[in-house]
Amino acid sequence: MNINKKILDSLKKELHRQQNHIELIASENYVSEEILALSGSILTNKYAEGYPGKRYYGGCLYIDEIETFGIELAKKIFKADHANLQPHSGSQANEAAYRAVLQSGDKIVSMSLDAGGHLTHGYPINFSGNTYNFKFYGVDSITEMIDYEEVERIVLEFKPKLIVAGASSYSKIIDFKKFKEIADKVGALLMVDMAHIAGLIAKGVHPSPVEYADIVTTTTHKTLRGARGGMILCKKEFAKKIDSAVFPGTQGGPLENQIAGKVQALCEVDTKEFEIYAKQIVKNAKAFSEQLQKEGLRPIAGGTDNHLINLDVKTNLNLTGKQAEIILESIGIVTNKNMIPNDKEKPMITSGIRVGTPAMTTRGMKEDDFIEVAKIIGSALKNQSSENLDQLKIRVNQICQKFPIYNNIKY
Ligand SMILES: Cc1ncc(COP(=O)(O)O)c(C=O)c1O
Repeated sequence: MNINKKILDSLKKELHRQQNHIELIASENYVSEEILALSGSILTNKYAEGYPGKRYYGGCLYIDEIETFGIELAKKIFKADHANLQPHSGSQANEAAYRAVLQSGDKIVSMSLDAGGHLTHGYPINFSGNTYNFKFYGVDSITEMIDYEEVERIVLEFKPKLIVAGASSYSKIIDFKKFKEIADKVGALLMVDMAHIAGLIAKGVHPSPVEYADIVTTTTHKTLRGARGGMILCKKEFAKKIDSAVFPGTQGGPLENQIAGKVQALCEVDTKEFEIYAKQIVKNAKAFSEQLQKEGLRPIAGGTDNHLINLDVKTNLNLTGKQAEIILESIGIVTNKNMIPNDKEKPMITSGIRVGTPAMTTRGMKEDDFIEVAKIIGSALKNQSSENLDQLKIRVNQICQKFPIYNNIKY
């Protein structure tokens, strides 16, 4: 192999970084070596605009086999009427979902960004915010959880055509049945963006939205632990509209190498091992959250029911999210700064950090290991002397050696 030296150098350094950091970014994971192989396979060479059996190019026989197998598996795992595996990303899945059922200017109610929503849920500088007319719900100022009565009030007043449930940074169970009841009161459609919690939903560790929502969008690379990309599930009556909104509505040729990596992930999800994994993600997050709270970091909404914890580092530790992220990265722990509800700081500063357990659970960490990491985080944020940080860096390195990843990969 003759990979360009500049790229190869960066690739080697990135492999080393992934192996030697504690990865706590809630939206990241370590995919299997099988998925890595498929993502980098010869399937990348093939143009296959269209859908299995109805392509605009010849030579799609084997591509059709893989995509059809994946569609059937996704329908089985999530008990969905219809599945589309072609969205290149979660954002493009959302774009296609909106386009399938809305006209530009139509009204949507969704969660605000600072309460935990996503850019594609109506942020003004995102395509969503400048194409559709959004009103937002937040979280209750005391419980920091979704206040379904407030959602209902907003929906009754605004009368949207679509309601979006689902978030990027919300740690509690989302009551999809409640959202459906609210949607029905104004005849709105319900779309659920389950990007963060898809892997938990697949194994019943979080209640499923599929029964209640008209359309469910997701990424495939977070808790679902697949190749990077998106997927859409929907009720029968929206199948045609969704398919044509993805292609030709918003995309051209599908990334068949990535689709194969998504299908392999679905095969992995469809095992007992993945159920054990999904349950462990949540057990780890609960133990992690409790210890982080003892260390003075305040979990938003009082804790977690899923894979992530949004932490206020301002109230007790007097740090910004940006400062906390930098301190932790200096000892080998990767997190991201994150807005907390009613945050006074700007998005690039923030008063919080978001952490998640999916990636390090893949590496085999259990509750006690997360408790130790929480103690390291507490110590680093409270005592930033170089002696302390140097000691903590050594402990982080020992944990990384104890839970190796990608040892067979040599570049
Ligand atoms: C809830 C939610 N939806 C959509 C997306 C967008 O996914 P992507 O980054 O693949 O476009 C994200 C990504 O973080 C997300 O958290």
